[in-house]
Amino acid sequence: MNPALTARKVEFRYGDRDILRGVDIDLFPGEVTVLLGPNGSGKSTLIKILSGVLSPRAGDVLLCGRPPRSFPRREMARLLSAVGQDPPVDFPMTVEAYVALGRFPHQGFFGGTTSEDREQVARALDLTELAALRGRALSEISAGERQRATVARAIAQGATVMLLDEPTAFLDIRHRVAFYEVVTRLAETCGVAALVASHDLSLCAEYGERIVLLSDGAVAAQGRPERVLTPENVRAAYGVEVACDRNPATGAIRVTPLRARPPGVET
Ligand SMILES: Nc1ncnc2c1ncn2[C@@H]1O[C@H](COP(=O)(O)OP(=O)(O)O)[C@@H](O)[C@H]1O
Ligand SMILES: [Mg+2]
Repeated sequence: MNPALTARKVEFRYGDRDILRGVDIDLFPGEVTVLLGPNGSGKSTLIKILSGVLSPRAGDVLLCGRPPRSFPRREMARLLSAVGQDPPVDFPMTVEAYVALGRFPHQGFFGGTTSEDREQVARALDLTELAALRGRALSEISAGERQRATVARAIAQGATVMLLDEPTAFLDIRHRVAFYEVVTRLAETCGVAALVASHDLSLCAEYGERIVLLSDGAVAAQGRPERVLTPENVRAAYGVEVACDRNPATGAIRVTPLRARPPGVET
């Protein structure tokens, strides 16, 4: 199967600092890829490059075979949706109106709303459990609710590639699980190719078919969760000791941080 989005040997600098070094990534239709990596490892920068917000210094990004920046804005928005790391706070609009912004690439230049638009907005609100909050102002809901609104907006957009930058950062465990359920369902039923930047090591192992571990701007490991989530890889990338075993209930890899022991204390 051809990847929906592919990056080859991507390099990026801020000033004279190397931020991304030779990054390769492929996103396939129907697959959820989880992008792991410590703070500052380059996840957000990579997502901005994949979505065409930033241009790589070297290397290639191809969305459906073309550079992202070569698409007209609406066409691009029908193919790719991106959710940034910081949910908007000061948009003076309701949750529903904000989610409906996701429909702009499907509307005519005069912005007429169709029943399809209304259905897709209602579906996105349902999937993110926001229907009851649809009339509330974006500035008058919690950070987690606002984060779900950004995901709802991306779902309403109906793009085939979804790039989500730490979409679960503010979510409680119930809504974290719900997020991964929804993104997996979109992949399985609509063929969406999703990239989710995350710090949910164990949770993403339950859902992510493929994990890309970024460390200091380079791909340290990528592949199935059992291949990527090893104590050696986690220690090298995050500098913490963890135990990696299998969740007895599901068989998925489970990552548990180990408490640091003061020097000289015997176990
Ligand atoms: N606008 C910017 N200007 C300069 N440096 C930046 C900018 N944005 C991010 N950086 C730096 O680039 C590196 C990667 O950042 P980022 O991609 O945000 O990492 P992550 O999302 O993995 O936490 C960090 O060292 C960060 O400090
Ligand atoms: Mg980031």
